[in-house]
Amino acid sequence: MKFSTKAIHAGQEPDPRTGAVSVPIYQTSTYAQEGIGKNKGFEYARTQNPTRSALEQNLAALENGRHCFAFASGMAATNAVMTLLKAGDHTIVNDNTYGGTFRLFDKVLKKYGLEFSYVDGREPQNIEDAVRAETRMIFIETPTNPVMSLIDIQAVSEISRRRGIRLVVDNTFMSPYFQRPLDLGADIVVHSTTKYLNGHSDSIGGAAILNDEEDARTLAFIQNAAGAIISPMDSWLIMRGTKTLAVRMKQHDENGRIVAQFLTEHPRVQKVHYPGLKSHPQHELARRQMSGFGGMISFETGSLENASRVLEGVRLCTLGESLGAVETLISHPATMTHASVPEMERQRLGITDGLVRISVGIEDVEDIISDLDQALSKIE
Ligand SMILES: Cc1ncc(COP(=O)(O)O)c(C=O)c1O
Repeated sequence: MKFSTKAIHAGQEPDPRTGAVSVPIYQTSTYAQEGIGKNKGFEYARTQNPTRSALEQNLAALENGRHCFAFASGMAATNAVMTLLKAGDHTIVNDNTYGGTFRLFDKVLKKYGLEFSYVDGREPQNIEDAVRAETRMIFIETPTNPVMSLIDIQAVSEISRRRGIRLVVDNTFMSPYFQRPLDLGADIVVHSTTKYLNGHSDSIGGAAILNDEEDARTLAFIQNAAGAIISPMDSWLIMRGTKTLAVRMKQHDENGRIVAQFLTEHPRVQKVHYPGLKSHPQHELARRQMSGFGGMISFETGSLENASRVLEGVRLCTLGESLGAVETLISHPATMTHASVPEMERQRLGITDGLVRISVGIEDVEDIISDLDQALSKIE
């Protein structure tokens, strides 16, 4: 099956009891059993839930993976993947991930003896140079949040294979519609399903997708043992989202390209970060690794005051954290998504006080542009 067909049908068989076309929301904590050890394969809803299983089958199919485990949030999915490691194990991380990922690694997991090195992953050699005898994982996010630089998944996967290290890719920004890391050699894909997969700003969730049988067994165990599971209602909302993922992503991409071009030509915008622009330093890699450029853009306004004028000036775009929804969301990474990254580090990464991030929605693009134009006109 091709992508859109899988998005609509994988894991979505009509309900065997009633024929309901939409997978039912099995809002239950437990299941009646017929006797000791006699049940229908369902015992307790932390361990198994049919709505969650349907979502997991759907997401595994979209990422071309064999196994998927869904969690209560993107962070819960990442946290579960990290518990594949043990104290003393070392992970190489690209230095420009979502701020919450850095916070989890630096403020929580380090306390349990996991070790992390942060490197500029735009150059795969930097990753190879950071490998130690204890390195067990490479964790990358591409495009990076929020400055939209890229990491060559295939090149990094060659290093990880050669060195016998797992490669984990956070694929939240592109979604499997535009980028499939397992096909490019990654071992595990993580998602904040909160974003494009759900797509409607009405659920928080996460998922990990992989092929390796042993890691899959361990993740199934962790999902049940630690219990950070996604609810049946959220599972259902995400499945409703993935059914339209292909059409939404096409529109995000079309609008994203137009908005990026508009911003590039705008006199009050100093710099635009968007992999679809020919001026993006890794445009060629973007064309090779992704089948579209998506709707995530960040741009430099020059100062906190200018950024604040734009963010307070928008009327159609919604000022708020998050991304990947039908509505255009605009945010200020330095004080919002990346507030947990130390200031010196933010400056080094280009997450300046003047940087504004837009998640371009699927409204009529003329309306998005005229809103941004009037907000930018507030910069003096
Ligand atoms: C790239 C990326 N990964 C992971 C997360 C965490 O996801 P969640 O908010 O669902 O926990 C986010 C959230 O913004 C994100 O942008």
